[in-house]
Amino acid sequence: FTRSTVPQASVTASLSNGLNKVSAALGLSSSASAFQIPDSQKKTLVIVGSGWGSTGVLQNIDASKYNIVLVSQRDFFLFTPLLPSTPVGTVEHRSIIEPVHNIIKKQGGKIKFYEAEATAVNTTDKTVSIKSVNLAKPQEFDIKYDYLVMGVGAQVTTFGIPGVAEHAYFLKELEDSKKLRARITSVIEEAQFITDAAARKKLLNFVVVGGGPTGVEFAAELQDFINEDLSKTYPELAKEIKVSLVEALPNVLNMFGKQNIKYTQDTFRDIKIDLLTKTMVKNVTADKIDAVRVLDNGEKEAFSIEYGTLVWATGNAVRPLTKSIMASVEAQKEARRGLIVNDFLAVEGTQDMWALGDCSATKYAPTAQVALQEGKYLASVFSQLGQVNALEVELKNLEASLKTENDTEKISGLKGEIESKTRTLEKNKLVTPFEYNHQGAMAYIGNERAVFDLALYAKKIYPLSGRTAFVIWMGAYNAMCITARTKTLVAFDWLKTRTFGRDITRE
Ligand code: FAD
Ligand code: NAI
Repeated sequence: FTRSTVPQASVTASLSNGLNKVSAALGLSSSASAFQIPDSQKKTLVIVGSGWGSTGVLQNIDASKYNIVLVSQRDFFLFTPLLPSTPVGTVEHRSIIEPVHNIIKKQGGKIKFYEAEATAVNTTDKTVSIKSVNLAKPQEFDIKYDYLVMGVGAQVTTFGIPGVAEHAYFLKELEDSKKLRARITSVIEEAQFITDAAARKKLLNFVVVGGGPTGVEFAAELQDFINEDLSKTYPELAKEIKVSLVEALPNVLNMFGKQNIKYTQDTFRDIKIDLLTKTMVKNVTADKIDAVRVLDNGEKEAFSIEYGTLVWATGNAVRPLTKSIMASVEAQKEARRGLIVNDFLAVEGTQDMWALGDCSATKYAPTAQVALQEGKYLASVFSQLGQVNALEVELKNLEASLKTENDTEKISGLKGEIESKTRTLEKNKLVTPFEYNHQGAMAYIGNERAVFDLALYAKKIYPLSGRTAFVIWMGAYNAMCITARTKTLVAFDWLKTRTFGRDITRE
């Protein structure tokens, strides 16, 4: 790390604002009354979102240094890496969520939580407008912040392809998985009543679009369910169900090395997932998917697939709130993938605002690994900033007593104290830029096999695959579960599935 000061637009700007602004800046705007400032001596830090990035901040920050306000439209953290396991019941929904209340409890209850959507950010007045999400009579008000952390993530993209939003299932949020689980159950139920061969074939055709890790992992989990569970309860049906994975590029899992891409595609062939690469979906209706594929001779061919269930996993799009900030800040006008941040994750063109994870545009991939490390980094920045703020208060008090003091001995003592505290203050203002430590990429590919591009020294990649990689995958994903509670629940689910099979009842 090279040590340097945080640029003017971010931390130092707020530090130099001085304490005279603190009381005015703390708390709610005049129209609001819901949030009472617990401590007017402390700065108000508003964190938007309860995903990987924000949770990294919340779990690691010294919460005693701030009035922390958490705003998220869901009251839990979602462990996304195991989301593809939930629609088929390998792991249960409740096992991969951690209530934000548990995180708050661990921080001594010092965090105020609003289950609400942040609808707007005014970067000039430094306010966040929030709106309750579940109340029959919606509540709306503004919160004035000293510091703001944006961790709202991203939403699924459809690339504006007609029919996708109306007819496809997604796999981004917990609700998506619940809908998909209900759909799989309904398909099995409906198939008992349909005798017409063509209608059965259509109903039992599952098409997953997008050969990134989400699409690959879900297709693998679905095929596992068919091969390991449905084959025992409905052997005939299990033979009829078809799972296809459609990918526009020549290969799936393009962020992996060649060896693991090949291993994945070979495994898919073995476990009977139909892989359609170089195939771009162009249009979707209630019954069919229109696509164009590139043939071996380079020519393009249009064709259609009749489907029963379409799962769409083609990556991320920017959320409306992030877009609105991008549009209102001059320095963000060129932004496309998310908020442009500097090396310290401060949002360019704003004061006292940081962004992390999938809502920011950095040189890193939009992954949980990156967001969590960014969260931990910001927690350390804020803990340091908190010390700076506390020192500023102390200095101000010392200077006030210096002015009223007559005793020369006491005056020289106070001067010494002020000097030493000023030195500490200047030292604490030094923050190192964020540096990402890539540990590798992993994906589950079915039949108790995984691929793992292990990143070691000097960023050299060592590819691992098969059962060994699967065991490492289980260990790593369990270790990544952010609390002992979720680690235990996930481990029990895996044991339960291995012992009794998957439970894919409607409830
Ligand atoms: P999120 O985790 O998406 O959190 C965003 C938060 O903001 C949520 O709490 C949301 O409710 C809240 N929010 C959104 N809008 C608002 C608003 N307007 N107001 C208030 N709150 C709001 N990455 C890996 O590294 N490894 C994996 O194995 C892996 N597996 C994945 C599997 C799936 C199925 C998916 C979809 C993603 C996976 N990822 C994985 C990627 C990873 O989940 C994301 O990169 C990560 O979630 C980004 O974290 P984040 O904090 O930026 O956003
Ligand atoms: P992705 O962006 O990684 O992959 C989407 C895929 O869809 C691409 O390969 C693209 O070529 C394809 N595609 C786009 N439009 C298409 C079309 N019209 N027809 C056919 N194919 C089309 O998206 P994904 O998998 O949702 O992942 C999002 C982010 O989350 C990524 O950064 C990923 O690394 C991360 N993630 C990581 C996981 C892991 O590490 N195991 C698991 C899941 C997600």
